This record gives sequence, C-alpha cells and structure tokens, in this order.
Amino acid sequence: MKKYEEIKRILTQDLGFTDLTAYRRWIEDVRPSVRPTEEIIERLSPDTIDCRDFWRVCEELFGDDPVCNVAVTPRVGSLPYAIETRIDSNRMNLRLAKSLGVITFLEEFAQDRLKTLEIGPGFGSLKNYIESHTAHIYTGIDVFPRIPGVLEATAEGFIPEELVERERSLLGYVIASNVFQHMSSRQRTRYFHDAHALLREGGLFIFNTLVDSGRAPVRDKNGNAWCDHYGQYTLIPKIGSIYEEVSARFGILYVTQRYDGVFNFVCQKQA
Ligand SMILES: C[S@@+](CC[C@H](N)C(=O)[O-])C[C@H]1O[C@@H](n2cnc3c(N)ncnc32)[C@H](O)[C@@H]1O
Repeated sequence: MKKYEEIKRILTQDLGFTDLTAYRRWIEDVRPSVRPTEEIIERLSPDTIDCRDFWRVCEELFGDDPVCNVAVTPRVGSLPYAIETRIDSNRMNLRLAKSLGVITFLEEFAQDRLKTLEIGPGFGSLKNYIESHTAHIYTGIDVFPRIPGVLEATAEGFIPEELVERERSLLGYVIASNVFQHMSSRQRTRYFHDAHALLREGGLFIFNTLVDSGRAPVRDKNGNAWCDHYGQYTLIPKIGSIYEEVSARFGILYVTQRYDGVFNFVCQKQA
C-alpha cells in the first residue's frame, strides 16, 4: 500500500501537481488528451494507496479544492461568486444535494431522531443542515475527518468493522453525496454491503455518483468511463451494472438523473 511520501512524490514529481495552479494548467493543457492505461489507473488507485494519506496530501497541496472541485470548472451548480471559504464550499455542495432531492428525504421524518451516518462529509455541508433542520442523530465517517463528530475510515477507505458491528440494524439513514465517484468499485461495493448491514428495516440509503450515461469524457481503450481527480482514476459504473448491484440488496425507490451523468439513488432496506 502506497503511503504519504510516495503519494506526494507521484503527485508533485511524476504528475507535476505542485499546487492548484499547476493542476489547473494540467486540466487545460494535458487532461483532454489523456487516455487512462492500466498503469495510470493503478498508480493512485484507491485500492493501492492509503486513502487517508491521499486525501491529506491533496488538502496540503490544493487546499479546499478536493472537497469543492472548482478546479474542474463545473458548468452547472456553481455559485454566482468565488468559493473563498469552507463555508462557500459547503454552500456549493449543499446545492448539489438539494438539487438532487437528498434533503427532502431527510426532512420527511425530521423530528424522529433517526440515527444517520454520512459517508465522506468533507467540511460538513450536510451535517450542518441535518443538525440545524432535523432532530436526527448524526455521525460521519471520512478518510480525512475535517470537522468534529466525524470518525476516521480505514486506510483502505472502509468503515471500521467494529462500527458496523456496533451499529448493525440501528440506522435510519446512510447518506453519501458527492463521494462515491471518488471510490474504486471495490470500495463502493463494500459501502453498499455495510449500508445494508447498518440500516434497520425501512431505513434509507441515499447516495449520488457519476454513472456512465454516455457523456463522460475520459475513456480507456475499451470505452470504459473514468472519473479523474488529482491523478486518481476511478471507474464510472454503467447504468445497468449499478442498478443490478444496488437492487440486489435494496429496493430502489427513486432515481434522479442530472444532465451530466450524476445520478441520485434513494434506496430502502426491505424485509
Ligand atoms: C468531494 S468531497 C464531498 C464532501 C461532502 N460530501 C459534501 O458534499 O460537501 C468527497 C469527500 O469524500 C471523502 N472520501 C473519499 N473517499 C472516501 C472513503 N473511501 N470513505 C469515506 N470518505 C471518503 C473525502 O475525504 C471528502 O471528504
């Protein structure tokens, strides 16, 4: 497993991402012509690195950008002003969650004090919302906890097993907004499995992620679509495969599709 020093060397020396300006330049000049090979994918794959170290190095080199991703200049969902603070990042990310309908489901039983686990809270865009607008009991899990009330995931990027055992069948919600596109298929599958274990019957698993609906620009020689994030490539699942995987465990209640291939799933643990 690659650790902090090697990850930092790959990013700064091999890729030349010494700061956000250098990374932005790469996005404009180099990214459009990169076709990910096995070697490029393997180099910083979430399955071969310490995921905690990767996100730590990214924060040291690129500041808040790994959480708000404005370096890639999103066409939809950006705010009408520059993202200058973590609060601004939260405003932008909350807008994504709201536009996909995540909030509606959290508010439906707002006063029920349901145990809620968020995967990958970043700076707490949803945490702040949940704690100020509902009575739900919040816990977060992140490979790089940045705010109070968030536990640390394992180096492999999983929920620690003791947490799954302790909270088995107790949760009303498991949520992941703007997170799963940064995971390997193996990590996503593990989270699907753990979300099912953690939820009580009727509990909701709400997540959004990129799905290959034909629009993703970065493709390998076989035509598979990849999400790239600071030199890390993660497979964008095809619509059929993600439906199949999720519906093997959950009842799928709603799916919202954004123009660019971000899909939001609202799934229920059924009897
Ligand atoms: C783009 S940020 C989104 C933050 C937040 N969900 C929001 O929308 O404001 C992605 C977050 O996922 C976290 N993350 C990445 N891989 C993870 C993993 N395997 N397990 C838990 N968190 C992860 C990152 O540290 C980061 O906080």
